[in-house]
Amino acid sequence: MKIGKRKVALVGCGMVGMSYAYALLNQNLCDELVLIDLDKKRAEGEAMDLNHGLAFSGGNMKIFAGEYADCGDADLVVICAGVAQKPGESRLALLQRNQAVFKSIVDPVVASGFGGLFLVATNPVDVMTRITCRLSGFAPQRVIGTGTALDTARLRYLLGEYFDVDPRSIHAYVLGEHGDSEFVPWSQALLATRPVGQLCGDWGGCREDLERIEEEVRTAAYKIIEAKKATYYGIGMAMARITRALLGDEHSVLTVSARLDGQYGQRDVFAGVPCVLCRDGVKQVVELALTQEEKARFADSCRTLQESWQGLEG
Ligand SMILES: NC(=O)c1ccc[n+]([C@@H]2O[C@H](COP(=O)([O-])OP(=O)(O)OC[C@H]3O[C@@H](n4cnc5c(N)ncnc54)[C@H](O)[C@@H]3O)[C@@H](O)[C@H]2O)c1
Repeated sequence: MKIGKRKVALVGCGMVGMSYAYALLNQNLCDELVLIDLDKKRAEGEAMDLNHGLAFSGGNMKIFAGEYADCGDADLVVICAGVAQKPGESRLALLQRNQAVFKSIVDPVVASGFGGLFLVATNPVDVMTRITCRLSGFAPQRVIGTGTALDTARLRYLLGEYFDVDPRSIHAYVLGEHGDSEFVPWSQALLATRPVGQLCGDWGGCREDLERIEEEVRTAAYKIIEAKKATYYGIGMAMARITRALLGDEHSVLTVSARLDGQYGQRDVFAGVPCVLCRDGVKQVVELALTQEEKARFADSCRTLQESWQGLEG
């Protein structure tokens, strides 16, 4: 019998990284977890704290604070490290600083002999995922961003509340940039197999409500940050779900940031789209049958992402 060890290396042990680590422990999603942070002492403290919960968890796990050399035999390297925006700092200046942070991370990860998958959560996540792909030289299928996974979860939750059904019975997606230009292709939103618009009197009856829900999804992060300074539990759970799909070779469909190669009429851009995820990363980008208007919105969102990238290049 072949017993495979599932090893995750987490770079960035801040709020997002540790919410993810806590979800990994509670859901028993890996056998070994290495914590890496610029602040080594913090990583050591976090490892101790998690280890003290092991006796109450559903399985055994080796958890320790480590170095980049420990990534060599990892299946997944997850990056949640980043610097926060300084007062008055432009988005582009922040992006440039985070690019430098990623160089200091991705280079030693690759030098360790790492041959697994990258999962990126640092914002702006679509551009940071593209940066990771370029710095690593890995095939794009092996470099995945959290994309609109969390936004999609927020949408399903709100639609579940609205229709009073389990969010897991709602099939709807948020596409494009994880940010202001993201959008919901309503023509593809279903409750079981029925388009949600038909459920409330052929669209017209609930158009305003659906638009309000879309706006709530788009602005959710701002509201949480205003109330408690940062968002981390939801994204930690989303990352754990993506990890389960990847390491479990599930072939599940999740909306992650993936490199487009002609799908949706877009090329050379990482954006949030439904993807089939398996042990090799992105097996397939699922192309939804968008209306002309939805295609135009997707193109607009990709244009925003390309502009950020070009700003970085320029
Ligand atoms: N993708 C999403 O949906 C989503 C949701 C929420 C937050 N985020 C993003 O996740 C990122 C992390 O957020 P957070 O709240 O955990 O921040 P945080 O400040 O709590 O944690 C960042 C961590 O990165 C570490 N770090 C900084 N530079 C490093 C380097 N060069 N090498 C190694 N570690 C380094 C810091 O020491 C710190 O522990 C942010 O970019 C945030 O915007 C993404």
